[in-house]
Amino acid sequence: MRMRKKPNLDLRLENCSELLVSDPKENCGRWRELYPGYEEIHLEIGCGKGRFTAEVAEKNTRVLILAIEKVQSAMVMAMERVQNAGLKNVRFIDADAVGLGEMFANGEIARVYLNFCDPWPKSRDAKFRLTAPSFLRSYADILLIGGAIHFKTDNLPLFEWSKSMFENEGWSLQAVTMNLHENGPVGIMTDYESKFYAEGVPIKRLEAVKTELTKDTSAGVPPRLRNAALSDARNC
Ligand SMILES: C[S@@+](CC[C@H](N)C(=O)[O-])C[C@H]1O[C@@H](n2cnc3c(N)ncnc32)[C@H](O)[C@@H]1O
Repeated sequence: MRMRKKPNLDLRLENCSELLVSDPKENCGRWRELYPGYEEIHLEIGCGKGRFTAEVAEKNTRVLILAIEKVQSAMVMAMERVQNAGLKNVRFIDADAVGLGEMFANGEIARVYLNFCDPWPKSRDAKFRLTAPSFLRSYADILLIGGAIHFKTDNLPLFEWSKSMFENEGWSLQAVTMNLHENGPVGIMTDYESKFYAEGVPIKRLEAVKTELTKDTSAGVPPRLRNAALSDARNC
């Protein structure tokens, strides 16, 4: 997501600093101990401006929501949303998801949300897709058995490619739909989703559940991604 540098970014971040986990690696293996009283910890990857983050937190006050975002100018908007709503069960991590393995121990997370991640359509960039096997294995490391990735996208080629990655990596797929809102809005929408919904773009969604067969980083080097270009067809 390309965003212009926001004025007063540092000041705005400072004003929300109680919501920021300044050194997430320090919390590795200790999240439950450091944030006691929550039933589960859910991780949203690439929260953007945080419409989904704030709503999911508001509806699930017994869950700690951790939102990771690598673009500060987007994350600060999410932080302000959460602060203005007075929500106590959200913390933000200012980092790239590539480093998740250093932030979380095995089984610390019960659910991962992947909402409208960037498609990286060129084959040579497929490794950057947040549903590439290397990422899926890092999610498998940190998720409980029975924990799930909730994945939504507007992008049909990305959805189909991701679905085959989940299957190849041993995830159990549930609630697969090619048009989530076909009969009216379902669940909590993200900022991107509300825009696509208004344009009539079908939203694709699935839940990928971790089982005993799901590959994690102990499975070794992930497969090389060949012929992985995505067409630019989005909503067919
Ligand atoms: C297309 S936007 C979607 C934002 C939000 N999830 C939504 O649906 O409205 C993708 C977001 O993911 C973030 N992102 C992409 N790759 C990331 C990564 N490796 N680590 C952390 N954030 C990432 C981007 O900075 C951007 O804010």
